[in-house]
Amino acid sequence: MADMGLMAFYPQIKWVHIAAVTTSGSLFALRGALVQAGRPRWAMAAPVRYLSYSVDTVLLTAALMLLTILPGAMFANGWLTTKLVLVVVYVVLGTFALKRGRTPQVRTACWLAALLVFATIIGIARVHHPLGWFYRWFA
Ligand code: HEM
Repeated sequence: MADMGLMAFYPQIKWVHIAAVTTSGSLFALRGALVQAGRPRWAMAAPVRYLSYSVDTVLLTAALMLLTILPGAMFANGWLTTKLVLVVVYVVLGTFALKRGRTPQVRTACWLAALLVFATIIGIARVHHPLGWFYRWFA
């Protein structure tokens, strides 16, 4: 699986992934805040949505490139699988925070839960372990 040709660009691709993660997370936090402030139309305005899709496409593309470069052994403890499951949870919570949540309470809870899951994903990515930020406490 490891692609040695792309290896030379690993640091740059990782930088792009992290930059997209930062932008994507900030954008989601901001759009959720707009929904919380009673401005859902601003949160869901076409330019904002398209910016969101574009950043997430860059994020995912860079992620897939990192995947093709890294040796499979790096994922032996299941951190990436855990991360991917949480990415799905994050996306679903995000749709409830921004539009699918029927009541303000549901939208607030889903927004906060999504941000918490986001921070959890970053912890897992940083330590390369499913326990993420809690790794030091348990292992
Ligand atoms: C959606 C699919 C995703 C895949 C397949 C993926 C995959 C990867 C891979 C393979 C790495 C390289 C690990 C390393 O070199 O140390 C990485 C790094 C990273 N990812 Fe993702 N990622 C995804 C989404 C996300 C999301 C949504 C976030 C944020 C919530 C995120 C946050 C990070 C961070 C912070 C790093 C850098 C870790 C470090 O500092 O070493 N990723 N990701």
